Amino acid sequence: MASTAATRRARACAALLEQVHAITAQHGNTPTALHAIKLKLVGLAKKPGLFPEEDFAMPVAQGRFHPLLVEDNDGLGLYLTINLPGKEAAPHDHGIWCVNAAISGRERHVFYRRTDDGSVPGRAEVVITGEVLVQPGTGTAMSDHDIHSTEVLGTEPAIGLALYGYALARFPSVAFYHPALNSTRTSPSRRHAVPA
Ligand SMILES: [Fe+2]
Repeated sequence: MASTAATRRARACAALLEQVHAITAQHGNTPTALHAIKLKLVGLAKKPGLFPEEDFAMPVAQGRFHPLLVEDNDGLGLYLTINLPGKEAAPHDHGIWCVNAAISGRERHVFYRRTDDGSVPGRAEVVITGEVLVQPGTGTAMSDHDIHSTEVLGTEPAIGLALYGYALARFPSVAFYHPALNSTRTSPSRRHAVPA
């Protein structure tokens, strides 16, 4: 039987996605819309009673995604993410917009801009454009092809909410960048997969 927290959480997540759809219906996936969505997600993440630690198993290593609400018909994916101290992700772009908000812990997001024209396969140049420390009360919003790297700071896991324009199982190709080598590689797209 679902716990009280799980019931309230399911209701809150459904309400959030309703608000997100209202925002994108009006503004599309523009930076303005993503900023508004970020504020909603930060608001939800500020309710730790909805996300008790006992409801979400810790990763064995690195990080773990717990689905909170994944829409049918190729819709949005809302997850609780747990990243362990020291976990890093190289600069990458998801190919789809994403919004993050912290529940606990601290994660540094560094943002990059690609400066080459993409004409040479496997080559890419990126430069740092800024960074945000994602900790309780804050979040980030990224457009479809924004590039970020992440690193968990301190000794506590970084626990947060992540909302993506597609479910992880339906992700497009993700491009990773190696700033020191000026190289790039891509993961296979999952967009061809039959929707769950
Ligand atoms: Fe990412």
